[in-house]
Amino acid sequence: MRISRVHAHTISDTRDRDTIETTLFTDKFEATASIPSGKSTGAHEAKELRDDDGSVTTAIHNVTGEIADALSERDFSNVGELDAFLCELDGTQDKSRLGANAILSVSIAMARLFAQEAHIPLWRFIADTAKTTSAAPRLFVNVMNGGAHADFRLPIQEQILVVGEETLKESVTTAHEAFVQLGDLLRKELPELPMGDEGGYSPAFDTIERPFELLTDIVSKWGNTSIAIDSAANELLDGNEYVLLKKRYTSDELLELYTQLVERFHFHAIEDPFAESDKQSFTKITAKLGEKVIIIGDDLIVTNPKLIEDAVEHKYINATLIKPNQIGTVSETIDAVHKTYDAGWHAVVSHRSGETYDTFIADLAYGIGAHGIKAGGLAQQQRLAKYERLRTIEREATELSQ
Ligand code: PGA
Ligand code: ZN
Repeated sequence: MRISRVHAHTISDTRDRDTIETTLFTDKFEATASIPSGKSTGAHEAKELRDDDGSVTTAIHNVTGEIADALSERDFSNVGELDAFLCELDGTQDKSRLGANAILSVSIAMARLFAQEAHIPLWRFIADTAKTTSAAPRLFVNVMNGGAHADFRLPIQEQILVVGEETLKESVTTAHEAFVQLGDLLRKELPELPMGDEGGYSPAFDTIERPFELLTDIVSKWGNTSIAIDSAANELLDGNEYVLLKKRYTSDELLELYTQLVERFHFHAIEDPFAESDKQSFTKITAKLGEKVIIIGDDLIVTNPKLIEDAVEHKYINATLIKPNQIGTVSETIDAVHKTYDAGWHAVVSHRSGETYDTFIADLAYGIGAHGIKAGGLAQQQRLAKYERLRTIEREATELSQ
């Protein structure tokens, strides 16, 4: 594969912040990718290059200048070769020189070019490259947003409705119906109902339990649904303690709170229950609740194959969150999936809180047969694009199997 032209420019994400969109051209094909941006980030994520004024001008120049120049002389036979080349060109551990956003935009666009050249859908290309079995993921729909994504109106960042119907078409329909019903329940109870960063409702309640009581009502109406949470506990830590609704919890007290919530609301999964620095508490919760609940690491492992190895060794978690822009190339994202699967763990593919219309994560989730996909609430077009893409993938998969 030889790139003949490279274009990159600024687009706006769901928070109206600048982000990068890159298009690669060959003599026959063209492919575009745009990169999302997180707010409750882990300390060890690959570095998004952002200028002091919040723009991504330098990242764009890196793509259209240095990266484009370097690519023009080369032929790549697979995405792994390109990714290794980009990492070497960057020369840093965390992609801070050229920017993880710049590098990933090229890596994803290139994966799309390879898929086009092979005349196969992107998810099929990912499954072939990763040697994984493609399958429909469950939808992890963030229906009530809190934490850093909603001015902490709810202490827990994400109250998630997990939907796993027979088909993706049915899962998306259930998610829509449940989301509307939840909105009706919330409006009955609250004078105002703002929305959060990830396109979910963002109510305020005086108890930690109230959102889950309402969600239990919703879950009771549909068979193949359950509740999950992302505490994003880095954001709750104050000194050595966690603060939820102005009350302070030691790590052990927080573990006790999770134990009670799991008992009462039968959570399917808990993500980032503790801060990334509080590693021994991860081991404790996984030992105590890991048989009943999936314990997902996000900020703890940041899609980094080495950190996942470390998590396997210490039994911190039993599932990983997979966010391509935390690591910065398609190949390293696939490596993170391999480390996850080698441990016998589940992978959940995820968007970021500042999203674009790019649907790469839908193809990734389907291609690797992920346990779930986090693509957000249903009140933002950029999130709906992912659900729509999943439905299209399901049709493509049916056609390919005929
Ligand atoms: P972020 O949060 O995209 O703001 O980092 C998402 C998450 O914590 O899962
Ligand atoms: Zn998270």
